Amino acid sequence: MVSNVLLHFEGVHKTFRLGHLFSTNKIHAVWDANFKIESDPIVFTLVGESGSGKTTIANLLLRIIKPTKGTIWFMGRNIESYPRSEFIKQIQPVFQDPFETFNPLKKLEGYFQIMLKKIANSGKKVGNYSLLEESLGSVGLTVEDIKGRYPHELSGGQLQRLSIARSLLVNPKILVADEPVSMLDVSLRISILNLFRKLRDERLLHVFYITHDLATAYYISDYIAVILKGSIVESGPADKVLTSPLHPYTKLLKESVPDLLDTARQKMPGPVSRGVESSPEYSEDLCKFVFRCSHKKGICEKEAPPNITADGVAVRCWLYQ
Ligand SMILES: Nc1ncnc2c1ncn2[C@@H]1O[C@H](COP(=O)(O)OP(=O)(O)O)[C@@H](O)[C@H]1O
Ligand SMILES: [Mg+2]
Repeated sequence: MVSNVLLHFEGVHKTFRLGHLFSTNKIHAVWDANFKIESDPIVFTLVGESGSGKTTIANLLLRIIKPTKGTIWFMGRNIESYPRSEFIKQIQPVFQDPFETFNPLKKLEGYFQIMLKKIANSGKKVGNYSLLEESLGSVGLTVEDIKGRYPHELSGGQLQRLSIARSLLVNPKILVADEPVSMLDVSLRISILNLFRKLRDERLLHVFYITHDLATAYYISDYIAVILKGSIVESGPADKVLTSPLHPYTKLLKESVPDLLDTARQKMPGPVSRGVESSPEYSEDLCKFVFRCSHKKGICEKEAPPNITADGVAVRCWLYQ
């Protein structure tokens, strides 16, 4: 039977050593991440406050770093087993700051030429120009928009579209967009988010959208995973997770976004009680919300929370045991 699973994070951990080579100080940036993305195109959102491990997950997915433990499966194979040249055609990044993506001294079409050359060398028989037109067209730009031009001649929104178009040239299955709108003017954000939806529908692309902003997560997600201090506390279809959250942390997040239509509200509130990381009771296995949770039970301070799945939603919490 052909598996319907496109991407599978299975028990993925990433630990960084802090300080000098022999230092024993460590940070568990990602702790036991488990989730699956099926082959029907979706916008999958990873939402969490700053420092919760979102970029680490993006870097693991893009193979920029390797898991300390666990496996990331893509189309049934460990992502490490793909030759790099093959892998980059499947999973492509969209960077946060479009102004940093492009060298100000280099003409924009140059970026496309390099990419097209790579594709041509790989033996893919495509009329290059049509490929360029097609990917620019998908993001609402034309060849005329970039011909002979330098990055500063385009707006931030246009540059972000261009960076997406460049990623589309190889016709990837997944776009990994790490805070792709946080550097853009508020007025442009919705248009880029709408573009992700359009790419999902028209190019059958999966968008792995990463944000600290619950309002945009509400707006765009088909599926959502909530991460807190490296641990995914709840994940599932967005309508379920966002309308009836199970984990006390997800509930708190929801309560702190009173007006979902107020898209000007950009920041998730940061209710983190500072100093939790350095607190002596802090344990890597325990629920990361235990010190803030008003529903906690005795066991929450003693044992790692179980991973419970019901009705398509996975929640890591003792309340549902
Ligand atoms: N290369 C690294 N070395 C040491 N610590 C890191 C490294 N990358 C990230 N971290 C730490 O891991 C945690 C998660 O970081 P990150 O994934 O960037 O979070 P987010 O993207 O959600 O803001 C943070 O505490 C951060 O300081
Ligand atoms: Mg980040």
